[in-house]
Amino acid sequence: MLENPFILEPYQSKAYFCDREKETEEIIRNITNGRNTTLISPRRLGKTGLIFRVFDEMMARKLPYETIYCDISDTLSLEEFIKVISDAVVSKLEKQQKITAFFKTLKSVRPLLGIDPLTGSPQVSFTFADDSQKQSTLKEVMDYLERYPQKVVLAIDEFQQIREYNDVNMEAVLRKHIQHLHNVRFIYCGSKKHTMTDMFTNAKKPFYESTSFSYLSKLPVPVYSAFIKEKFESAGKTIDDDSISFIIEWTKDHTYYTQRLCNEVFSLSGNVIVRNDIVTAIQSILDSERDRFQEIRRLVTRSQWKMLEALAKEGSVSQITSSAFLSKYKISSGPTALRNIKALMDKELVLVTTTDDGTSYSVYNVFLSRYLEMNR
Ligand SMILES: Nc1ncnc2c1ncn2[C@@H]1O[C@H](COP(=O)(O)OP(=O)(O)O)[C@@H](O)[C@H]1O
Ligand SMILES: [Mg+2]
Repeated sequence: MLENPFILEPYQSKAYFCDREKETEEIIRNITNGRNTTLISPRRLGKTGLIFRVFDEMMARKLPYETIYCDISDTLSLEEFIKVISDAVVSKLEKQQKITAFFKTLKSVRPLLGIDPLTGSPQVSFTFADDSQKQSTLKEVMDYLERYPQKVVLAIDEFQQIREYNDVNMEAVLRKHIQHLHNVRFIYCGSKKHTMTDMFTNAKKPFYESTSFSYLSKLPVPVYSAFIKEKFESAGKTIDDDSISFIIEWTKDHTYYTQRLCNEVFSLSGNVIVRNDIVTAIQSILDSERDRFQEIRRLVTRSQWKMLEALAKEGSVSQITSSAFLSKYKISSGPTALRNIKALMDKELVLVTTTDDGTSYSVYNVFLSRYLEMNR
């Protein structure tokens, strides 16, 4: 049993992962029926965790697939993309013999194997002479996966990052190399809904209609409540339903924030959780985040910060240019409000939510939102 049952990393094991049963089934069904999956949600809701949950479940069911995960959020070029995928492949191969065989298939370039001094994990490095060498190496990596002895699932996390590459039109490049693969199923995961949707549903774009779409939503409150209660109780702690409701409400049922608060409450409490434990945990979290919030404050203009405060106090706002909202928060004009919102969206400080009822805006980071709401 874990010291603290409220994990703060994407995935540990099924026991510490709440629900996502339907989503897990759906993705496995896509994979085993030859379909690719596009998984989209705001940050910190549970996409990465879900990928590992799916991989774990596939292993438990002994499904004959090799599962490979890579996160491309730190990449800015085709070269870095190739490196991240190769690292992920190599980490699965483990044995030197297999790694040598993999390297042999990369005919265009001579890769070198090293060890990351910090993590101890294998690291592949390439020295490319020119762009065409990169293109052929990407093709060779994909061909290697195509001829892999087992079927392969390749999850590419933070996929929207390929739009940031300046050296190539990465969408077109990737599409060219992967559309003929039969042995590899892809999971494209991303948190920028607008970009992801554009890539996969815009008829002019190379990925148009190539995958099955899945929007991950917040965990259902009753299910999450039951999970939280069970985790406290099996560690010998009691917590009443009102306290659980308060925790989920205060963290807006945004998974990471809810887990973090539960983790803190768990660590600070005795065997019976009382309301004051939750208040103390909230204070402790906000204290530890304060420096980061101040840093954000320095990174935005005064009027952008004012906009964040306004959104935080409202919780969420749909009529961003209405005179009621502008005058309540002394925002000079509609265009100013729109300009600030746009800048804050680009910095991922504001989250846009689009539903059938329209578009609304809120502060992305739930703790920052609560902090702004409470200060003055
Ligand atoms: N189903 C779940 N059960 C418990 N905790 C979860 C679950 N999904 C996500 N989390 C928590 O939320 C955090 C963020 O999840 P993550 O998968 O990294 O989100 P995303 O990839 O969407 O940004 C995780 O580190 C973990 O603490
Ligand atoms: Mg993630």
